[in-house]
Amino acid sequence: MLRRVAAQASTHYRRLLTASSPTSTPHVHFPFRQCSTSYTSNSNFVEHLEDSDSTFPSPSSTKISIDRSGLHNPSEHFHGPTSDSELVKHLKGIIKFRGGPITVAEYMEEVLTNPKAGFYINRDVFGAQGDFVTSPEVSQIFGEMIGVWVMCVWEQMGRPNKVNLVELGPGRGTLLADLLRGVSKFKNFTESVRIHMVECSPALRKVQYQSLKCEGEDGGDENEGKQVVSTMTCSPVSWHATMEEVPAGLPTIIIAHEFYDALPVHQFQRASNGWCEKMIDVDENSLFRFVLSPRPTPATLYLVKRSKWTETEETAKLSHIEICPKAMDLTQTIVKRIGSDGGAALIIDYGLNGIVSDSLQAIRKHKFVNILDNPGSADLSAYVDFAAVRHLAEEVSENVTVHGPITQSQFLGALGINFRVEALLENCTDEQADSLRTGYWRLVGEGEAPFWEGPDEHTPIGMGTRYLAMAIVNKEIGVPVPF
Ligand SMILES: C[S@@+](CC[C@H](N)C(=O)[O-])C[C@H]1O[C@@H](n2cnc3c(N)ncnc32)[C@H](O)[C@@H]1O
Repeated sequence: MLRRVAAQASTHYRRLLTASSPTSTPHVHFPFRQCSTSYTSNSNFVEHLEDSDSTFPSPSSTKISIDRSGLHNPSEHFHGPTSDSELVKHLKGIIKFRGGPITVAEYMEEVLTNPKAGFYINRDVFGAQGDFVTSPEVSQIFGEMIGVWVMCVWEQMGRPNKVNLVELGPGRGTLLADLLRGVSKFKNFTESVRIHMVECSPALRKVQYQSLKCEGEDGGDENEGKQVVSTMTCSPVSWHATMEEVPAGLPTIIIAHEFYDALPVHQFQRASNGWCEKMIDVDENSLFRFVLSPRPTPATLYLVKRSKWTETEETAKLSHIEICPKAMDLTQTIVKRIGSDGGAALIIDYGLNGIVSDSLQAIRKHKFVNILDNPGSADLSAYVDFAAVRHLAEEVSENVTVHGPITQSQFLGALGINFRVEALLENCTDEQADSLRTGYWRLVGEGEAPFWEGPDEHTPIGMGTRYLAMAIVNKEIGVPVPF
């Protein structure tokens, strides 16, 4: 299969896979967001994440009470920090001011992106010193393979001489840096690219600026002559708070890697009076607690919409449902943009090809923690409902087609990751080769690594089937490689 795809690939494609490594320095290894194994940058093991169905208490094991009398019933509560942080005070202030609880989605949004104290806003949360790690941080091969995909799509688009390359939530900018380094020799492509970063965090914007080896000042306006340029490819770079702010009018390639999972979800629970939205309140001891809304909430409309895309028997089995209106809104924006301007979007994330029941999790320093515990100090993320993304995309525009989801392992495998690893292995030290092989396993493997000789508790867990890849493309492109 791999050989067939590689044989069909264009000259550019083969050159990308087999080019000797621009750095030949594999990235250091850190724990994955859902993985039980980890390395530090000097290859010592660090505290590890547990598998989501491990013995560590998961959010889904949290009991909640149903309050039908003005939400005053005592409920399970959680130990907060000894003195309230600014964010905790802010959250309690909203609840007090409103005179009632807030939705899980409002809580998640404040916790992650509150402009003063949100989890992502003021610091670098990635890596061994941070809270979790993502695929681009594991190995340079990940960003390089996304580069292969982007160049293939650009060729399928007919090699436009101007194209927007957008990354949603670029984190440290590692994916794009590896992508640009990998494609830097293809001048026709690099000269066509305008890079757009959609990022809410001022701190991460600075890290991204460094990662892309940028020069110049971000004036925010392409016509003011104050453009930032990535010296890696001489491509202009600009930052935006939302996808809507990315200038329209050019064909656009969008990458969303671990972005959808950070979008706020609403949680519903089946109760005796039907589906009730799970809310967050403050109890008499000033601790956060979950309660159920006694009456329909605005998000119920999205629940109804989502239910229409699901067999009744499937929903009947569930006692919890998560929905993500922001993911629906974002998908709509992406689809409209690609439908009118041309281009493609690649979404890679962990999730399900179906309705999601109860997946919201909090991770601090590589461990699962309670969602309500010291908000702002832990990452919150939820499974992506890829089926909802597909249904919505198909509903919004007839000009796009949706492909996948397929597993990350299928995606990277069919793009030729094996060939890329082989090429890199020809020109590296023994230590780099070990690191490359482990990184490769973690990106495409499934379950525990069979080759592992270290301590059992640190066995690398492959992410190849947990992460899914989906493409949304303008119809004119046809079927994107490698779907
Ligand atoms: C889980 S990280 C993924 C980072 C990167 N894509 C990677 O794989 O390493 C989520 C990223 O999205 C950004 N982000 C989260 N919510 C956002 C929002 N609503 N608007 C813009 N950026 C957001 C975060 O600051 C961070 O850069």
